[in-house]
Parts: sequence; structure tokens; C-alpha cells
Amino acid sequence: MKYSKPSVGLLAALAVPIQAGLRFPCSSLTAQRLDPAAQPGSLPSAHLHMIVGGNAFNATMEGDVGARATCTTCQMSEDFSNYWVAHMFFKDPKNGTYHRVMPMPVQPLLGGSQGAKGGLTIYYTQFDLSKDNLKTQPVKAFPAGFRMTVGSPNEKTKQHAGLSYQCMTGGNRGTIISTFPAQKCTGGIFTTHHFPPCWDGKNLDSPDHQSHMYNTVNSEYFNNAPACPASHPVRVPQVTFEITWDTTPFNNLWDPKTDANPFVWSFEGTAAGTHADYLFGWKGDALQRAMDKSECFYDGCGAIKKQAMADANKCTVKDFVKEEIDGFKAQLSYRTPRTARSVRERPSTLRLAHPVPAKPCH
Ligand SMILES: *[C@@H]1O[C@H](CO)[C@@H](O)[C@H](O)[C@H]1NC(C)=O
Ligand SMILES: *[C@@H]1O[C@H](CO)[C@@H](O)[C@H](O)[C@H]1NC(C)=O
Repeated sequence: MKYSKPSVGLLAALAVPIQAGLRFPCSSLTAQRLDPAAQPGSLPSAHLHMIVGGNAFNATMEGDVGARATCTTCQMSEDFSNYWVAHMFFKDPKNGTYHRVMPMPVQPLLGGSQGAKGGLTIYYTQFDLSKDNLKTQPVKAFPAGFRMTVGSPNEKTKQHAGLSYQCMTGGNRGTIISTFPAQKCTGGIFTTHHFPPCWDGKNLDSPDHQSHMYNTVNSEYFNNAPACPASHPVRVPQVTFEITWDTTPFNNLWDPKTDANPFVWSFEGTAAGTHADYLFGWKGDALQRAMDKSECFYDGCGAIKKQAMADANKCTVKDFVKEEIDGFKAQLSYRTPRTARSVRERPSTLRLAHPVPAKPCH
């Protein structure tokens, strides 16, 4: 695979010393119909996900994931979190069958991060992309057991700010748009998911997996969000996913002039239904140590341990769902669920024993 040079903007940004947070690749861990955040216990979950991160991933995940996992597909070797999104699919306009679109590594990344396979790139931004501003805005890492989602498969009109698409030309990302590109993209389709940065300081989850968070993200960029509100006063790292979906193998199977847009998410909703899930799993206080420092930028972050992507790529999980997901398929839910179990309600006990004291954000 060939990648073009880093964009001019990025090179300009790297010319000055920058402290802003972590950015690193995670290779694909698995693609299965599992969703321990929104549909815990469902085997399979409603739709297919592309999942990266630690090997404690399972249909149900509670407690200290970082203490349970033994490997991760992420470059930061103490990060056993799981990160997942709905899988992208190509729906053939001629015969209506579906083929999954594979993710490919986001480029460019800095030294040592080459060799990621598929997957996505993660950011934990402290303030914005050029400074951490830690003196006025301390950042609190998530506690063990924490999870959240952003966006919703049920959204039919317009997604929240920070959830976007770009049509890539080679390595150039192109204009940020809110829907699947209407033209063929020679570099694939780039998607971004910015998570909310304000937490209520009490709940590890909430019934909709979102109301324990407050989404102050109001643009498509890595700008600092406005101050956290009193209801959700704790500033957490601003988590972002970036994914390049390799749509190029399908470019000769559709004609933008005559065909409807052939790209769909695995839930077959609209582009506005783009969403993402985060389940915290850093070992011990590793993320807090990274967030407390003014030395983190991209994958250069002092004491935070890294691994070669060749080692990260060895991390796997078992195939819990056991269904064939490759090739052209007649439908998106590949087979009847093995168990007729419906979606279980999350236990309401997912609360911190000792809530984080409310500190105003600046
Ligand atoms: C997955 O979770 C179930 C219980 O929810 C447990 O019995 C099983 O051992 C777990 N599997 C792995 C591989 O962690
Ligand atoms: C549908 O079209 C794809 C792409 O041309 C082809 O590979 C596949 O075999 C077709 N499937 C059916 C059922 O016709």
C-alpha cells in the first residue's frame, strides 16, 4: 500500500514544539456482532462492528478491563481499552448484495507507529491540537469500568457535530462533510468520531450510554470545547477516532451518475447514524500519567509505554459469534441469532463508589 506525503498543514504544525495529547494507531482486533456497551450480553448484537484494542473484549465487560487483558492491538501497550464502530459496507447497486469495506491505517503517523493493520487512530486530546493548557484545565482520566457512545444508529436527519466524512484523494483528506461522499474516492472514505469531553463524575454508564456525558463538541476540528456545565463538571480527555475505509476495490462497481450511493453502515441506517463506542481499559493510572504531562504529542509521550506494531498485531480474541462475514452477502444480519435473547438492560449499579468531586472547568 502506498501513502502520499503528510499534508502541508501537519508538517507546519510539527515544526513548532507541541504538547497536546496522545495520538496513536490500533490495529484491527476483530470484526464481530458484539457490543458490550450498547447491547451487553447479546450474542450476537444487532449489527457488525469493527473493534480494536485489548483482548478482554467480550459480549459483556464490567470492572477493571486493564487488569484483565493481557495484550492490545494499540501502540500504547498499557492501553487495553476497546474502541469500536459500525462496520462500513458496500451495497452493490446491480444486485443488492453487501460486501464489507475494510479499514486501512490512517497515515501519516510519527516514528515507530508504522505497521498497523486496518484498525483506527485514537486521540486523547488535552485542549486542542497545539497546546495542552493543563494549568487552567486539568484533565481527569476515566475510571475502570467507564464506557460511552457517541452518535446513534437511529439518527436519521443530522448527526452531532464532530461526526464526519471525507472523500480522500490519495492521502489527501478533502472537505469535511456530513454524509457519504457522492463521488468515487481514490483514497477511500475517511470518518471521524469526536466523543464528548465532559463527565458527570459519578456514573460509569447511563441507560442511553450518553447522558452521563455532556457533549460540548461544536465543530469538526480539534478545538477545545466550551467549558463543561455544572451538571457534567469533570473534564476528561477528548477521545477521537479516525478511520480510513478502503472503498477503492468497489470504485468500478458503481456509477455516481446513475446509481444511488452504495455505501452503508452495518445497521443499514443513513449516514447520519454514524456512531462509535468507547470502553476504558488503560492499566492502572497510565492514562492519568499521560494526561498530567506537558510532554505528550502524538506517539511521543515520555514514560508511557509503547510496543512495536508487529507485536500489537499478534493480539487476538476468539470468534465468539462464529459467522462468515466475508464475500458478497444477501443480507447484513448474516444468520438468525443463536440465542433468542433480547437486549438486556444495563445494571443500574454502574456507579463510582466514590464520585469524583465536582471541580469547575475553566
Ligand atoms: C466472556 O465472558 C463470559 C461471561 O460473560 C465468560 O464466561 C468468558 O470466559 C469470557 N470469555 C473470554 C474469552 O474472556
Ligand atoms: C453481485 O455482484 C457482485 C459484484 O459484481 C458479485 O461479485 C456477486 O457475485 C453478485 N452476487 C449475486 C448474487 O449475483
